[in-house]
Amino acid sequence: MSSPTPSSPDAAPAPAGGGAALRFPGAVVAITGANGALGRALLRRWHARGARLIALTTCEEPLALTDAAGEPLPVRQVCWRAGAEALLEPLLAEVDVLVINHGVNRLGQRSAVAATEALEVNALSAWRLLELFARVVSQRPTAGRPRAEVWVNTSEAEIQPALSPLYEISKRLLGELLSLRALDLAAILRIRRLVLGPFRSALNPYGVMSADWVAGEILRQAGWNCGLILVSPNPLTYVLMPLAALTRRLYYGLVSKAERPAA
Ligand SMILES: NC(=O)c1ccc[n+]([C@@H]2O[C@H](COP(=O)([O-])OP(=O)(O)OC[C@H]3O[C@@H](n4cnc5c(N)ncnc54)[C@H](OP(=O)(O)O)[C@@H]3O)[C@@H](O)[C@H]2O)c1
Repeated sequence: MSSPTPSSPDAAPAPAGGGAALRFPGAVVAITGANGALGRALLRRWHARGARLIALTTCEEPLALTDAAGEPLPVRQVCWRAGAEALLEPLLAEVDVLVINHGVNRLGQRSAVAATEALEVNALSAWRLLELFARVVSQRPTAGRPRAEVWVNTSEAEIQPALSPLYEISKRLLGELLSLRALDLAAILRIRRLVLGPFRSALNPYGVMSADWVAGEILRQAGWNCGLILVSPNPLTYVLMPLAALTRRLYYGLVSKAERPAA
């Protein structure tokens, strides 16, 4: 396992404007589910943009990651699994872009054990990481760094059937929590929601898109500074998801309020 040089926030001035992290030389990008199909594809795409990479993975063996030319990717590999978010706090202090990407899909299951796993991995651990990263970012100096970003991979299962009830329920919970908490956390972090259609991976062997192509589209839309990143062959997703996001934003904004700091 190789380690990148420590983050040097003073090395370059932060570029102004949206999507600054994508253009920031040596931005530190941490990706959960790093050894999955999309995790690996995103690591390659970020590497091509000159990012310093942190692979957050349950895998204890060194990840064999190579770039398009077959050269090994310089990746700092950190072992982690859902439930152990708090242990990542010191590491997150170095991170400019956190991509919350891990997930499970136990097709056809509906047992209590499978429900617990889906809720814990797909929804609650992702939400805890989001909150933890926002807290870390709010407490660290911002000078010389790009605006911190969190990318949350929910799935179009947020709004469409995925032939997997526990997957749908857990991804909808994550999507709804993200909509609610974004009302406050967007002041601290740039939040991008990744809403993806089916691509081939261990989680979905029947996917029609390739993870590499999806990763390319994600970075392209992030470069346009989209907060809602949609990659799907299903045209309904491009209509329903923005509508769902807007409706939730209005409704949650109307019926809830931010916590005021204690006087
Ligand atoms: N494939 C699709 O059609 C599709 C569509 C929409 C959205 N998505 C979402 O895209 C993300 C990536 O999925 P993928 O398709 O690339 O599947 P994948 O290849 O199965 O990758 C998922 C990764 O999640 C990580 N993971 C699983 N259980 C974990 C746990 N208990 N704690 C921490 N990490 C855990 C693992 O990463 P490590 O091996 O590195 O530990 C695993 O490789 C998921 O959130 C998925 O829901 C997928």
